Amino acid sequence: MSELVFLKLGGSLITDKSSPNTPRPDALKRLALEIKNALEAGGDDLRLVIGHGSGSFGHIAASKHKTAQGDIGPESWQGVVDVVAAVGRLNRLVMDTLLEAGVPAVPFQPFASARTRKEQLMYFETYSLKEVLKHGLVPVVYGDVSIDAVQGMSIVSTEKLFDNLARELIPDRILLAGDLDGVYTGNPKTNPAAGLVEDIDHTNWAEVEMALGGALTVDVTGGMLAKVRDMYHLTLAMPPMQALIFSGLEPGNVESALLGQGANFGTLIN
Ligand code: IPE
Repeated sequence: MSELVFLKLGGSLITDKSSPNTPRPDALKRLALEIKNALEAGGDDLRLVIGHGSGSFGHIAASKHKTAQGDIGPESWQGVVDVVAAVGRLNRLVMDTLLEAGVPAVPFQPFASARTRKEQLMYFETYSLKEVLKHGLVPVVYGDVSIDAVQGMSIVSTEKLFDNLARELIPDRILLAGDLDGVYTGNPKTNPAAGLVEDIDHTNWAEVEMALGGALTVDVTGGMLAKVRDMYHLTLAMPPMQALIFSGLEPGNVESALLGQGANFGTLIN
């Protein structure tokens, strides 16, 4: 049975978030090879859309200019220039690494066609993306700036783009690979009592939401809570779609998650 999978390579996985504009080329190379292996093993049965975060490339410029808040000062439009440039540079690196590994990837610049209203993604152009997908190519999207009808400009995260694309393309699974083993009940880097949540569904959502609300984030797109909330609402609206949040730092995880062998790690949302 043919499967459509969306895979996000999180900004914390492909960049060093503690240092500005610093990619993790070795991790990227390994991830690209895992993707290539999975595509080879999956053959015609696996169709893939890749998204990637911006990590230490976009978030730093976007928080400097408060881009997510819109046109709030004389530097806001220069902020658009800076963030588009920063995320574009990272996209070039991701693209080159995917192409070197033999993945037939083609980029779609979200800034060129995404439209938001007060940070809500209202439109994202999909015609060409759907066409290339039909021919076995791998579309690549990424967190970017958007022109916002109400506030001038805003930020669209990869999760928002996936949400929009999912309602049209109806993927079987959404995989979010980051630097953590999954969703924790707190910030595992600062709180040793934080525990990994293996499953999120309607029976424990309220509890998880409350726990994550207290987790520390410095992320312009809302950190883990926003990502998990987006995925929870999406999977709830579109059963039997599932989302898996897991660590892409562990070699082999991305490959096995792509091939549907991911149920024994990470956090499954459905
Ligand atoms: C953030 O995109 C985009 C910008 C800050 C410009 P994401 O939300 O998809 O990226 P990560 O994974 O948090 O880095």
